[in-house]
Amino acid sequence: MTAPAPFPSFSTLVTQLRAAGCVFAEDEARLLRSAAATPGELAAMVERRASGLPLEHVIGWAEFYGLRIAVDGGVFVPRRRTEFLVERAVALARTGALVVDLCCGSGALGAALAAALGPVELHAADIDPAAVSCARRNIAAAGGLAHQGDLFDPLPATLRGRVDVLLANVPYVPTEEVELLPAEARLHEARVALDGGADGLDVLRRVTPEAVHWLAPGGHLLFETSERQVPGAVRTVEAAGLVAEVAECEERYAVVVTGTRPV
Ligand SMILES: C[S@@+](CC[C@H](N)C(=O)[O-])C[C@H]1O[C@@H](n2cnc3c(N)ncnc32)[C@H](O)[C@@H]1O
Repeated sequence: MTAPAPFPSFSTLVTQLRAAGCVFAEDEARLLRSAAATPGELAAMVERRASGLPLEHVIGWAEFYGLRIAVDGGVFVPRRRTEFLVERAVALARTGALVVDLCCGSGALGAALAAALGPVELHAADIDPAAVSCARRNIAAAGGLAHQGDLFDPLPATLRGRVDVLLANVPYVPTEEVELLPAEARLHEARVALDGGADGLDVLRRVTPEAVHWLAPGGHLLFETSERQVPGAVRTVEAAGLVAEVAECEERYAVVVTGTRPV
């Protein structure tokens, strides 16, 4: 009987990943090595990574706000800069809040907010069934419920007028710029997760007029946008009767707009 092939050395792994163009080859080598149970599994993972699949899709999870978030193939990988949105929400919310994570993708934002605040009533929704299936697993520990459908459509009507925090990291890449995104996003994340229409604000323009009917008096809508989109985003928020506030984190290259329903 021949002995099974051993795991490759760490430096061999790093060399393979570097040759495939992975900039953070050492970090990736560590993660891939710990995710693989056998040398065969590791070889298959390295091959998938080398073919351009996002690391998070290869190992099946992403780190976000100190949590391990499951991310299935095709589902939007939560970006570290979006932790800024969660921080803004944490500052505004309280334990026991009714939280809705709209356009939830993996459900990372709701899961993070629940982890920070302690018990909350959490609902997440997305149009993509693969995202909903992921979110369902990621928010289960917080007792959250995941719904599938277009924007607010799948949410229980009993939430109307009661939502304290409405997280809505909607797609905001202008259509023409989707082609300029890194291949990992362009080829391996669903188009519906990225494309925000001609100026990137199409989905937001559908969310804001509805949001005001779902928020409790004093409740907050929070979303990420780009610096260039801020004037248009603020106009959209104000046109819906919400009070807009813009916050920027230069370090993380993140801009978050908050729209608060007046009391
Ligand atoms: C930019 S991703 C954000 C995902 C997640 N909130 C995050 O930050 O990691 C946008 C998400 O919006 C969802 N989406 C796009 N259009 C939608 C719609 N009309 N109704 C519900 N979800 C939608 C996509 O499927 C995708 O998961």
